[in-house]
Amino acid sequence: MQPLEIAKGIYSVGVTDWNIRDFHGYSTYAGTTYNAFLIVDEKIVLIDTVKKEFSEQLLGNISKIVDPGKIDIVVSNHSEMDHSGSLPRIMHEIGEDKPIYCSKMGFKNLSSHFTQKWNYHPVENQEDLSIGKKTLTFLETRMLHWPDSMFTYVREDKILFSSDAFGQHYAGAETFDDQLGDEVMLHARKYFANILMLYGVKILKLLDTIGELGLEFDMICPDHGVFWRKNIGQIIDAYAKWSRRDSEKKAVVIYDTMWHSTETMAEAIVSGLADEGVPAKPVHIRSSHRSDIITEILEARAVIIGSPTLNNQMFPSVADVLTYIKGLKPKNKIGAAFGSYGWSGEAVRLINKELEAMKFDIIDSGLKLQYVPDEDGIKACYELGRKIARSM
Ligand code: FEO
Repeated sequence: MQPLEIAKGIYSVGVTDWNIRDFHGYSTYAGTTYNAFLIVDEKIVLIDTVKKEFSEQLLGNISKIVDPGKIDIVVSNHSEMDHSGSLPRIMHEIGEDKPIYCSKMGFKNLSSHFTQKWNYHPVENQEDLSIGKKTLTFLETRMLHWPDSMFTYVREDKILFSSDAFGQHYAGAETFDDQLGDEVMLHARKYFANILMLYGVKILKLLDTIGELGLEFDMICPDHGVFWRKNIGQIIDAYAKWSRRDSEKKAVVIYDTMWHSTETMAEAIVSGLADEGVPAKPVHIRSSHRSDIITEILEARAVIIGSPTLNNQMFPSVADVLTYIKGLKPKNKIGAAFGSYGWSGEAVRLINKELEAMKFDIIDSGLKLQYVPDEDGIKACYELGRKIARSM
């Protein structure tokens, strides 16, 4: 990524990670970017750094605008290492005594990541910092998505540097949302589902605070992906909708299968749903990444889980996905379990336990069929699909 002036005196100086396909367990099939920003005013400010492996590229980008040694202030919006990993290299280059502005939790977390005793300036929520003609306002956004997370807002330019929020794991030639088109929302949805879904209540509070403060945005610049300048209202509305856990009348039937019996059941359930007018799709777990499965779940009202019984347990891949789903705390879902078994058939009961723990509204006690579903068994699956559809 080449440095680019995105507003007068404000530069994007981040880097592109074209090849990353697994971001701590999240599938990043479109790569990602680690965005960082340089503000050249009476004081020169660097907002966030990048993953350690890209330190030299970051320094190279900065050097095309100013001598890095002239940076006066570093702002760390977030201590996770995709944004703080280059701090040691940057601080070595610009001077170890230069101030690092961060949240109070940022101070704590950065101190736990790095042994250097840097010149930290923990800030208060909504504290202002004048850097010349521009004013930075720091907004504490605790647990969005780490305890240290904060936003930095440039009042005069109405630009919000939003850390991970509003991000997308996307690498491309585009810099702005309008250049990427509708695809941007697909990446933003997946990002929300996997990183932010469980913090919906906090996001709604934050959106209220932004409204109360009367903050307006000409641009929202997250730390991953493209910057929002055209569809700002659309992404804020989407965050509000996803955070409220508003769901749509659609269903996902998530399953794994050993000899296609549970798969046959899944397809019959989908047919029953579809015949009652509910868009539904079967999702085979080992053909889909868990981060894509949770993205399907985000807007679906019904989540139906199917598993064969293996060694008195649910299938391991089903347990994996349920663990992942549980951590992200989806709400306002209806659910049901199904599966084929040979001689013991514990999977349906075990799945129901997990659905109960997630407070899903379980609308059927579950359907288990021995070995290969016969005509009556397939009919029962179809009827289960219809029953689920009618309950929505
Ligand atoms: Fe992009 Fe929470 O780091």
